[in-house]
Amino acid sequence: MQALTLGRAPGTIEVRTDVPVPRPGDNEVFVEILYAGGNPPDTYVLDPVRSAAYQHPDNVMGSDFAGIVRESNVSHIAVGEKVCGWLPGNATTRGSFAQYAVCDADLVIRCPDDIPMEQLAALPFSFFTALHGLVCELNVDLQSGNKGPAVLVWGAGTACGQYAVQLLVQAKVPVVAVSAQSSLESLQRKGVSAAYPREDIPQTCAAIRESWPDLELALDCFGSTETVDACASVLRRGHMHVLVPSQPSVSRPEVKVTFALIHSMLGRPTDVLGMLPVPPTPEKLAADYKVAVSYASFDRGHLYRLLRQGAIQPLPVQIWPLDGTAEADDSLSRLSGIKSAIEQAAAGQTPSGKIVHRVGTST
Ligand SMILES: NC(=O)c1ccc[n+]([C@@H]2O[C@H](COP(=O)([O-])OP(=O)(O)OC[C@H]3O[C@@H](n4cnc5c(N)ncnc54)[C@H](OP(=O)(O)O)[C@@H]3O)[C@@H](O)[C@H]2O)c1
Repeated sequence: MQALTLGRAPGTIEVRTDVPVPRPGDNEVFVEILYAGGNPPDTYVLDPVRSAAYQHPDNVMGSDFAGIVRESNVSHIAVGEKVCGWLPGNATTRGSFAQYAVCDADLVIRCPDDIPMEQLAALPFSFFTALHGLVCELNVDLQSGNKGPAVLVWGAGTACGQYAVQLLVQAKVPVVAVSAQSSLESLQRKGVSAAYPREDIPQTCAAIRESWPDLELALDCFGSTETVDACASVLRRGHMHVLVPSQPSVSRPEVKVTFALIHSMLGRPTDVLGMLPVPPTPEKLAADYKVAVSYASFDRGHLYRLLRQGAIQPLPVQIWPLDGTAEADDSLSRLSGIKSAIEQAAAGQTPSGKIVHRVGTST
Protein backbone atom coordinates (compact mmCIF):
# COMPACT_ATOMS: atom_id res chain seq x y z
CA MET A 1 0.00 0.00 0.00
CA GLN A 2 0.97 3.65 -0.16
CA ALA A 3 2.13 5.21 3.07
CA LEU A 4 4.32 7.94 4.49
CA THR A 5 7.10 6.30 6.49
CA LEU A 6 10.26 7.30 8.26
CA GLY A 7 13.13 7.57 5.78
CA ARG A 8 16.17 5.33 5.70
CA ALA A 9 18.37 8.19 6.88
CA PRO A 10 17.53 9.37 10.42
CA GLY A 11 15.56 12.62 10.39
CA THR A 12 13.96 12.04 7.00
CA ILE A 13 10.54 10.88 5.81
CA GLU A 14 9.53 9.09 2.64
CA VAL A 15 6.41 8.44 0.56
CA ARG A 16 6.37 4.73 -0.28
CA THR A 17 4.25 2.43 -2.42
CA ASP A 18 5.63 -0.91 -1.14
CA VAL A 19 4.42 -0.96 2.46
CA PRO A 20 2.71 -4.27 3.32
CA VAL A 21 -1.04 -4.00 3.77
CA PRO A 22 -1.61 -4.69 7.49
CA ARG A 23 -3.81 -7.66 8.39
CA PRO A 24 -6.28 -7.49 11.29
CA GLY A 25 -5.74 -9.92 14.16
CA ASP A 26 -8.12 -10.98 16.91
CA ASN A 27 -10.28 -8.13 18.20
CA GLU A 28 -9.02 -5.80 15.48
CA VAL A 29 -10.58 -3.87 12.62
CA PHE A 30 -9.07 -3.05 9.22
CA VAL A 31 -9.82 0.51 8.22
CA GLU A 32 -9.55 2.42 4.95
CA ILE A 33 -8.23 5.82 6.00
CA LEU A 34 -10.25 8.74 4.62
CA TYR A 35 -8.82 11.56 6.73
CA ALA A 36 -5.72 11.78 8.92
CA GLY A 37 -4.98 14.56 11.41
CA GLY A 38 -1.55 16.05 12.05
CA ASN A 39 -0.04 16.39 15.52
CA PRO A 40 3.15 18.03 16.87
CA PRO A 41 4.95 14.67 17.41
CA ASP A 42 4.84 14.07 13.61
CA THR A 43 7.47 16.78 13.24
CA TYR A 44 9.73 15.17 15.89
CA VAL A 45 10.61 12.48 13.32
CA LEU A 46 12.60 15.12 11.42
CA ASP A 47 14.83 15.53 14.49
CA PRO A 48 17.04 12.40 14.79
CA VAL A 49 17.81 13.13 18.44
CA ARG A 50 14.19 13.62 19.50
CA SER A 51 13.07 10.48 17.64
CA ALA A 52 16.11 8.36 18.52
CA ALA A 53 14.00 5.77 20.38
CA TYR A 54 11.95 4.84 17.32
CA GLN A 55 14.03 5.32 14.14
CA HIS A 56 12.89 2.41 11.98
CA PRO A 57 12.35 3.03 8.25
CA ASP A 58 9.23 0.82 8.16
CA ASN A 59 7.46 2.90 10.81
CA VAL A 60 4.33 4.49 9.34
CA MET A 61 3.74 8.10 10.26
CA GLY A 62 0.60 9.80 11.60
CA SER A 63 -1.58 9.10 14.60
CA ASP A 64 -5.09 10.42 14.09
CA PHE A 65 -7.55 8.96 11.61
CA ALA A 66 -11.16 8.67 10.52
CA GLY A 67 -12.14 6.05 8.00
CA ILE A 68 -14.36 3.16 6.98
CA VAL A 69 -14.17 -0.34 8.42
CA ARG A 70 -13.40 -2.73 5.55
CA GLU A 71 -12.84 -5.88 7.65
CA SER A 72 -13.90 -6.57 11.21
CA ASN A 73 -12.94 -9.33 13.61
CA VAL A 74 -15.54 -8.32 16.21
CA SER A 75 -19.27 -8.91 16.00
CA HIS A 76 -20.41 -5.46 17.15
CA ILE A 77 -18.57 -3.43 14.47
CA ALA A 78 -19.90 -4.08 10.98
CA VAL A 79 -18.03 -3.62 7.72
CA GLY A 80 -18.90 -0.17 6.36
CA GLU A 81 -19.07 1.56 9.77
CA LYS A 82 -17.35 4.93 10.03
CA VAL A 83 -14.83 5.09 12.87
CA CYS A 84 -12.12 7.36 14.21
CA GLY A 85 -9.23 6.61 16.51
CA TRP A 86 -5.52 7.00 17.10
CA LEU A 87 -2.53 4.81 16.32
CA PRO A 88 1.05 4.69 17.63
CA GLY A 89 2.14 6.40 14.40
CA ASN A 90 5.76 7.41 13.79
CA ALA A 91 6.93 4.99 16.49
CA THR A 92 5.57 1.71 15.01
CA THR A 93 4.44 0.20 11.71
CA ARG A 94 0.88 1.28 12.58
CA GLY A 95 0.22 4.82 11.43
CA SER A 96 -2.55 6.88 9.84
CA PHE A 97 -0.71 8.53 6.93
CA ALA A 98 -1.42 5.44 4.87
CA GLN A 99 -4.17 3.97 2.73
CA TYR A 100 -5.10 1.37 5.36
CA ALA A 101 -4.56 0.71 9.04
CA VAL A 102 -5.37 -1.94 11.59
CA CYS A 103 -6.61 -0.88 15.00
CA ASP A 104 -7.67 -2.50 18.27
CA ALA A 105 -11.47 -2.67 17.99
CA ASP A 106 -11.83 -1.53 21.61
CA LEU A 107 -9.92 1.68 20.87
CA VAL A 108 -11.98 2.97 17.95
CA ILE A 109 -14.96 5.30 18.27
CA ARG A 110 -18.00 5.29 16.04
CA CYS A 111 -18.28 8.56 14.08
CA PRO A 112 -21.59 10.22 15.00
CA ASP A 113 -23.51 10.91 11.76
CA ASP A 114 -23.90 14.62 12.46
CA ILE A 115 -20.18 15.39 12.96
CA PRO A 116 -17.98 15.76 9.86
CA MET A 117 -15.42 12.98 9.64
CA GLU A 118 -12.59 15.43 8.98
CA GLN A 119 -13.20 17.01 12.40
CA LEU A 120 -13.23 13.60 14.07
CA ALA A 121 -9.95 12.76 12.31
CA ALA A 122 -8.20 15.36 14.46
CA LEU A 123 -9.78 14.52 17.81
CA PRO A 124 -8.58 11.16 19.23
CA PHE A 125 -4.85 11.74 19.80
CA SER A 126 -5.35 15.05 21.64
CA PHE A 127 -8.48 13.89 23.46
CA PHE A 128 -6.90 10.67 24.73
CA THR A 129 -3.70 12.50 25.69
CA ALA A 130 -5.80 14.85 27.81
CA LEU A 131 -7.75 11.93 29.27
CA HIS A 132 -4.54 10.06 30.03
CA GLY A 133 -3.02 13.07 31.79
CA LEU A 134 -6.10 13.79 33.87
CA VAL A 135 -7.27 10.29 34.79
CA CYS A 136 -4.27 7.96 34.48
CA GLU A 137 -1.67 10.39 35.84
CA LEU A 138 -3.42 12.99 38.01
CA ASN A 139 -6.14 10.56 39.17
CA VAL A 140 -8.92 13.08 38.51
CA ASP A 141 -12.36 11.56 38.99
CA LEU A 142 -14.38 12.33 35.84
CA GLN A 143 -17.15 9.84 36.48
CA SER A 144 -18.68 10.17 39.93
CA GLY A 145 -20.20 13.63 39.40
CA ASN A 146 -18.66 14.75 42.71
CA LYS A 147 -17.16 18.19 42.45
CA GLY A 148 -13.49 17.29 42.92
CA PRO A 149 -10.55 19.59 43.68
CA ALA A 150 -9.82 22.26 41.05
CA VAL A 151 -7.38 21.47 38.24
CA LEU A 152 -5.05 24.03 36.68
CA VAL A 153 -4.81 23.59 32.89
CA TRP A 154 -1.83 25.59 31.63
CA GLY A 155 -1.82 25.84 27.85
CA ALA A 156 -5.61 25.57 27.65
CA GLY A 157 -5.36 26.82 24.05
CA THR A 158 -3.49 23.72 22.86
CA ALA A 159 -5.61 20.96 21.41
CA CYS A 160 -4.85 18.72 24.41
CA GLY A 161 -5.67 21.61 26.74
CA GLN A 162 -8.99 22.30 25.05
CA TYR A 163 -10.06 18.67 25.43
CA ALA A 164 -8.84 18.63 29.04
CA VAL A 165 -11.01 21.68 29.73
CA GLN A 166 -14.04 20.08 28.08
CA LEU A 167 -13.55 16.82 29.99
CA LEU A 168 -13.27 18.63 33.32
CA VAL A 169 -16.19 20.98 32.68
CA GLN A 170 -18.57 18.16 31.68
CA ALA A 171 -17.50 16.29 34.84
CA LYS A 172 -18.17 19.43 36.93
CA VAL A 173 -14.57 19.64 38.12
CA PRO A 174 -13.54 23.30 38.67
CA VAL A 175 -10.98 24.42 36.06
CA VAL A 176 -8.40 27.17 36.35
CA ALA A 177 -7.29 27.80 32.77
CA VAL A 178 -4.28 29.67 31.40
CA SER A 179 -4.32 30.55 27.72
CA ALA A 180 -3.74 33.36 25.25
CA GLN A 181 -5.53 36.58 26.21
CA SER A 182 -7.53 36.30 22.97
CA SER A 183 -9.16 33.00 24.03
CA LEU A 184 -10.03 33.84 27.66
CA GLU A 185 -13.61 34.85 26.89
CA SER A 186 -14.31 31.70 24.94
CA LEU A 187 -12.86 29.60 27.79
CA GLN A 188 -15.19 31.36 30.22
CA ARG A 189 -18.14 30.64 27.94
CA LYS A 190 -17.09 26.97 27.98
CA GLY A 191 -17.51 26.94 31.75
CA VAL A 192 -14.06 27.26 33.31
CA SER A 193 -14.06 28.67 36.85
CA ALA A 194 -11.31 31.18 36.07
CA ALA A 195 -9.16 32.05 33.06
CA TYR A 196 -5.83 33.88 33.08
CA PRO A 197 -3.61 35.17 30.24
CA ARG A 198 -0.41 33.30 29.44
CA GLU A 199 1.37 36.41 28.14
CA ASP A 200 2.42 37.83 31.55
CA ILE A 201 3.50 34.77 33.53
CA PRO A 202 4.55 36.51 36.81
CA GLN A 203 1.28 38.46 36.99
CA THR A 204 -0.81 35.39 36.15
CA CYS A 205 0.98 33.30 38.80
CA ALA A 206 0.41 36.01 41.41
CA ALA A 207 -3.30 36.22 40.52
CA ILE A 208 -3.71 32.43 40.69
CA ARG A 209 -1.90 32.17 44.06
CA GLU A 210 -4.15 34.93 45.40
CA SER A 211 -7.47 33.42 44.25
CA TRP A 212 -6.62 29.70 44.31
CA PRO A 213 -4.26 29.22 47.28
CA ASP A 214 -5.16 25.54 47.71
CA LEU A 215 -4.48 24.30 44.16
CA GLU A 216 -2.91 20.82 44.17
CA LEU A 217 -3.32 19.53 40.60
CA ALA A 218 -1.97 20.89 37.32
CA LEU A 219 -1.78 19.71 33.72
CA ASP A 220 0.86 21.61 31.74
CA CYS A 221 0.00 21.10 28.07
CA PHE A 222 2.79 23.33 26.77
CA GLY A 223 5.77 22.18 28.79
CA SER A 224 8.38 24.93 28.35
CA THR A 225 10.77 25.72 31.21
CA GLU A 226 8.71 28.86 31.90
CA THR A 227 5.33 27.10 31.97
CA VAL A 228 6.61 24.18 34.07
CA ASP A 229 8.16 26.61 36.56
CA ALA A 230 4.94 28.62 36.62
CA CYS A 231 2.74 25.58 37.31
CA ALA A 232 5.08 24.31 40.03
CA SER A 233 5.11 27.72 41.68
CA VAL A 234 1.33 28.05 42.01
CA LEU A 235 0.68 24.62 43.51
CA ARG A 236 0.59 24.59 47.29
CA ARG A 237 1.65 20.96 47.09
CA GLY A 238 0.42 17.99 45.06
CA HIS A 239 1.01 16.79 41.51
CA MET A 240 1.65 18.37 38.13
CA HIS A 241 1.69 16.37 34.93
CA VAL A 242 3.54 17.74 31.89
CA LEU A 243 2.84 16.56 28.34
CA VAL A 244 6.45 17.03 27.20
CA PRO A 245 9.55 15.90 29.09
CA SER A 246 10.39 18.88 31.30
CA GLN A 247 11.20 19.57 34.93
CA PRO A 248 10.86 22.82 36.85
CA SER A 249 14.20 24.60 37.24
CA VAL A 250 13.68 24.86 41.01
CA SER A 251 12.80 21.65 42.80
CA ARG A 252 9.89 21.72 45.24
CA PRO A 253 9.74 18.32 46.95
CA GLU A 254 6.11 18.91 47.91
CA VAL A 255 5.15 19.02 44.19
CA LYS A 256 5.39 15.75 42.27
CA VAL A 257 6.17 16.24 38.55
CA THR A 258 5.39 13.52 36.02
CA PHE A 259 5.72 13.03 32.28
CA ALA A 260 4.17 10.06 30.49
CA LEU A 261 3.08 9.03 27.02
CA ILE A 262 -0.39 8.35 25.66
CA HIS A 263 1.05 5.10 24.25
CA SER A 264 0.61 3.36 27.58
CA MET A 265 -3.14 3.47 26.81
CA LEU A 266 -2.48 0.81 24.13
CA GLY A 267 -2.10 -1.60 27.02
CA ARG A 268 1.13 -3.19 25.76
CA PRO A 269 4.77 -2.12 25.50
CA THR A 270 5.90 -0.11 22.46
CA ASP A 271 9.44 1.11 21.69
CA VAL A 272 8.51 4.73 22.26
CA LEU A 273 7.78 3.98 25.93
CA GLY A 274 11.52 3.32 26.23
CA MET A 275 11.96 7.11 26.16
CA LEU A 276 10.49 7.30 29.64
CA PRO A 277 12.92 7.24 32.58
CA VAL A 278 10.73 4.52 34.11
CA PRO A 279 8.64 2.63 31.51
CA PRO A 280 5.13 1.70 32.72
CA THR A 281 4.69 -1.63 34.49
CA PRO A 282 2.34 -4.29 33.04
CA GLU A 283 -0.17 -3.31 35.76
CA LYS A 284 -0.02 0.36 34.76
CA LEU A 285 -0.41 -0.53 31.05
CA ALA A 286 -3.48 -2.61 31.91
CA ALA A 287 -4.99 0.17 34.03
CA ASP A 288 -4.40 2.85 31.37
CA TYR A 289 -5.83 0.59 28.65
CA LYS A 290 -8.96 0.10 30.77
CA VAL A 291 -9.47 3.88 30.94
CA ALA A 292 -9.02 4.20 27.16
CA VAL A 293 -11.48 1.37 26.50
CA SER A 294 -14.06 2.93 28.81
CA TYR A 295 -14.05 6.05 26.61
CA ALA A 296 -13.63 4.35 23.19
CA SER A 297 -15.29 0.93 22.55
CA PHE A 298 -17.03 2.03 19.34
CA ASP A 299 -20.47 3.29 20.47
CA ARG A 300 -20.37 1.73 23.95
CA GLY A 301 -17.85 4.05 25.60
CA HIS A 302 -18.22 7.52 27.11
CA LEU A 303 -16.80 9.41 24.14
CA TYR A 304 -19.48 8.45 21.62
CA ARG A 305 -22.14 9.49 24.16
CA LEU A 306 -20.37 12.76 25.01
CA LEU A 307 -20.02 13.60 21.31
CA ARG A 308 -23.71 12.86 20.68
CA GLN A 309 -24.66 15.07 23.65
CA GLY A 310 -22.39 17.90 22.48
CA ALA A 311 -20.55 17.72 25.83
CA ILE A 312 -17.31 17.14 23.89
CA GLN A 313 -17.05 19.22 20.76
CA PRO A 314 -14.37 18.51 18.17
CA LEU A 315 -12.04 21.42 17.53
CA PRO A 316 -12.25 23.31 14.25
CA VAL A 317 -9.89 21.97 11.62
CA GLN A 318 -8.17 23.28 8.52
CA ILE A 319 -7.93 20.99 5.51
CA TRP A 320 -4.56 20.78 3.77
CA PRO A 321 -3.58 22.47 1.46
CA LEU A 322 -4.30 25.62 3.42
CA ASP A 323 -3.96 28.02 0.51
CA GLY A 324 -7.06 26.72 -1.25
CA THR A 325 -5.16 25.33 -4.23
CA ALA A 326 -6.83 22.35 -5.86
CA GLU A 327 -6.52 19.22 -3.78
CA ALA A 328 -4.65 16.30 -5.30
CA ASP A 329 -7.04 13.56 -6.32
CA ASP A 330 -4.97 10.43 -5.72
CA SER A 331 -3.55 8.99 -2.49
CA LEU A 332 0.07 9.20 -3.58
CA SER A 333 -0.09 12.95 -4.25
CA ARG A 334 -1.97 13.43 -1.01
CA LEU A 335 0.73 11.58 0.94
CA SER A 336 3.35 13.80 -0.72
CA GLY A 337 1.24 16.76 0.44
CA ILE A 338 1.38 15.45 4.02
CA LYS A 339 5.18 15.14 3.74
CA SER A 340 5.49 18.80 2.76
CA ALA A 341 2.98 19.80 5.48
CA ILE A 342 5.17 18.10 8.12
CA GLU A 343 8.32 19.68 6.73
CA GLN A 344 6.68 23.12 6.77
CA ALA A 345 5.34 22.60 10.31
CA ALA A 346 8.81 21.56 11.51
CA ALA A 347 10.16 24.79 10.02
CA GLY A 348 7.47 26.74 11.89
CA GLN A 349 5.76 27.78 8.67
CA THR A 350 2.23 26.56 9.30
CA PRO A 351 -0.26 28.40 11.52
CA SER A 352 -1.37 26.80 14.78
CA GLY A 353 -4.59 24.82 14.84
CA LYS A 354 -5.55 21.35 13.75
CA ILE A 355 -4.61 20.42 10.21
CA VAL A 356 -6.31 17.46 8.59
CA HIS A 357 -5.29 15.64 5.42
CA ARG A 358 -7.60 13.85 3.04
CA VAL A 359 -5.95 10.49 2.39
CA GLY A 360 -8.49 8.13 0.86
CA THR A 361 -10.50 8.55 -2.28
CA SER A 362 -13.73 6.83 -1.08
CA THR A 363 -16.62 8.98 0.11
N1 LIG B 1 2.79 12.99 26.25
C1 LIG B 1 2.09 12.61 25.20
O1 LIG B 1 1.75 11.43 25.05
C2 LIG B 1 1.68 13.63 24.20
C3 LIG B 1 0.71 13.29 23.25
C4 LIG B 1 0.29 14.28 22.38
C5 LIG B 1 0.90 15.53 22.40
N2 LIG B 1 1.88 15.77 23.30
C6 LIG B 1 2.52 17.08 23.38
O2 LIG B 1 1.61 17.97 23.97
C7 LIG B 1 1.83 19.27 23.49
C8 LIG B 1 0.51 19.86 23.05
O3 LIG B 1 0.06 19.20 21.86
P1 LIG B 1 -1.17 19.81 21.07
O4 LIG B 1 -1.41 18.98 19.87
O5 LIG B 1 -2.28 20.00 22.02
O6 LIG B 1 -0.52 21.22 20.68
P2 LIG B 1 -1.08 22.36 19.74
O7 LIG B 1 -2.56 22.38 19.71
O8 LIG B 1 -0.40 22.25 18.41
O9 LIG B 1 -0.51 23.65 20.50
C9 LIG B 1 -0.52 24.89 19.84
C10 LIG B 1 -1.10 25.92 20.81
O10 LIG B 1 -0.19 26.15 21.88
C11 LIG B 1 -0.57 27.37 22.50
N3 LIG B 1 0.64 28.06 22.95
C12 LIG B 1 1.57 28.66 22.17
N4 LIG B 1 2.54 29.20 22.92
C13 LIG B 1 2.22 28.93 24.22
C14 LIG B 1 2.83 29.22 25.47
N5 LIG B 1 3.97 29.90 25.54
N6 LIG B 1 2.23 28.80 26.59
C15 LIG B 1 1.07 28.09 26.54
N7 LIG B 1 0.44 27.79 25.38
C16 LIG B 1 1.01 28.20 24.23
C17 LIG B 1 -1.29 28.20 21.43
O11 LIG B 1 -2.66 28.38 21.87
P3 LIG B 1 -3.14 29.82 22.48
O12 LIG B 1 -2.49 30.85 21.60
O13 LIG B 1 -4.64 29.78 22.35
O14 LIG B 1 -2.66 29.85 23.88
C18 LIG B 1 -1.25 27.29 20.20
O15 LIG B 1 -2.43 27.34 19.43
C19 LIG B 1 2.85 19.15 22.35
O16 LIG B 1 4.12 19.53 22.83
C20 LIG B 1 2.83 17.68 22.02
O17 LIG B 1 4.03 17.23 21.51
C21 LIG B 1 2.28 14.86 24.21
